[in-house]
Amino acid sequence: MSENYVIIFDTTLRDGEQSPGASLEVQEKLMLAMQLARLNVDVIEAGFPISSPAQFDAVKLIAQEVKGPVIAGLARSLALDIDRCWEAVRFAKKPRIHTFIATSQVHVKHKLRKSEDEILEMAVAAVKRAKGYCEDVEFSPEDSSRTGKDFLFRIIEAVIDAGATVINIPDTVGYSNPEEFGNLIREIREKVPNIDQAILSVHCHNDLGMAVANSLSAIRNGAQQVECTINGIGERAGNASLEEIVMALKTRKDFYGKETRIRTEEIMKTSRMVSHLTGIVVQPNKAIVGANAFAHESGIHQDAVLKDARTYEIMTPQSIGLATNKIVLGRHSGRHGLKKRLEDLGYKLSAEELDKIYQRFMELADKKKEIFDEDLAVIVEDITREIKEVYHLEYFHVFSGNNTIPTATVGIKVNEKLLHEAACGDGPVDAAYKAIDKIVQLPVKLEDYTLRAVTSGKDALGEVGVTVAKDDKRVYGRGTSTDVLEASIKAYLNALNRLTTMINQKGK
Ligand code: KIV
Ligand code: ZN
Repeated sequence: MSENYVIIFDTTLRDGEQSPGASLEVQEKLMLAMQLARLNVDVIEAGFPISSPAQFDAVKLIAQEVKGPVIAGLARSLALDIDRCWEAVRFAKKPRIHTFIATSQVHVKHKLRKSEDEILEMAVAAVKRAKGYCEDVEFSPEDSSRTGKDFLFRIIEAVIDAGATVINIPDTVGYSNPEEFGNLIREIREKVPNIDQAILSVHCHNDLGMAVANSLSAIRNGAQQVECTINGIGERAGNASLEEIVMALKTRKDFYGKETRIRTEEIMKTSRMVSHLTGIVVQPNKAIVGANAFAHESGIHQDAVLKDARTYEIMTPQSIGLATNKIVLGRHSGRHGLKKRLEDLGYKLSAEELDKIYQRFMELADKKKEIFDEDLAVIVEDITREIKEVYHLEYFHVFSGNNTIPTATVGIKVNEKLLHEAACGDGPVDAAYKAIDKIVQLPVKLEDYTLRAVTSGKDALGEVGVTVAKDDKRVYGRGTSTDVLEASIKAYLNALNRLTTMINQKGK
């Protein structure tokens, strides 16, 4: 491995899977491991084989099936753990046994109840046993950042003498900070006499939100491998996020002078897969993979990004596998952003029409968090055609329950005349729509129905959008209300009014 490359050790399937609430099936782990191989990570830590039969099966299957990366399994510094780990990883073309034991006083005294000498002996014995099976042996002094330096340096030297090829320094409880952790790595480089016989690795947790910063500082100070997870999942506040480290190195190569072998275009796909399979959602403002990471809402930003994306984007969306950035239309958006989106949607509008559309857009943006393309279509149509409200909802009454046939009665004013109809349906919305169909007598097909909350809380305003088609004509209708049924009826009538206007105008 060239000096310029940082080795990416992915532990999504081991430490990441230790996230509260995340538990993956064996086949799901295999799927993820395949994707990690496509992402081109150097090492996959596939699990902790002795911890359960399912963990063992997953590590073994991944070792058998996944080609490319080193496949590592975790083992405590105990003979049984190491034997079991080997049984699982031995099928890999490039197997690794990763063994660990805690070295900080608080762990040694209160968790393990042993002396430092006993711990050192166990570590050396574990590495020797692992080495009997496999050339590639990683050793981690757990809770390194809270371990007395003399003991830490002593145990590192001893396990390298015993055959360890990788020394991993975990900030197990995310206690360190970039300056201190960087210094620790530099000191290990300077003070452990045989350190150049092993790869120096780091493994940072995010309890104080510094896992990525600590990992990058370690790289600056001589760490050659970083352990990380997709989306930063892991025990408690998680591990250092793979995508953040990789993109920091790529984007600031001028500063770090290091590269990785990661195919960054696979990042988004991998992130989505991890989120989907673990059920752990990615916060919208998460760096690199959050839904807002390449979204621009303010007018000034949108204007600048449309002129030259580099104004507010330090990396391209394509570099992580996204097709484009996202211009979010909302209350902070300006005319430029709106105009560009309308042009992209194919509308050719006069300056006067654009003025009116912008006015309506701002009124709607005051009520809604985000304005979607369908909303724009409605506004444009309202402004460019004169939509006549032929059908106006006067009242509705719905009878529904879990053990009854949903029935609706609807009263609609059609050209000032009040008409009523009742109908049964598969559900209350269906019943109401059937009653409306009886009044309107315009055979249409309901192609799409969506419901979303446009405000939050229990009294959230619900918005229903429907797409209605008749022959070659297709229209979108929108209705909002705190009552989902009312929003549904309004959306349907809105679509029918548009369709009627369209038909009448064509006939003229
Ligand atoms: O956080 C930690 O210390 C670990 C070790 C097992 C490497 O996950
Ligand atoms: Zn960990």
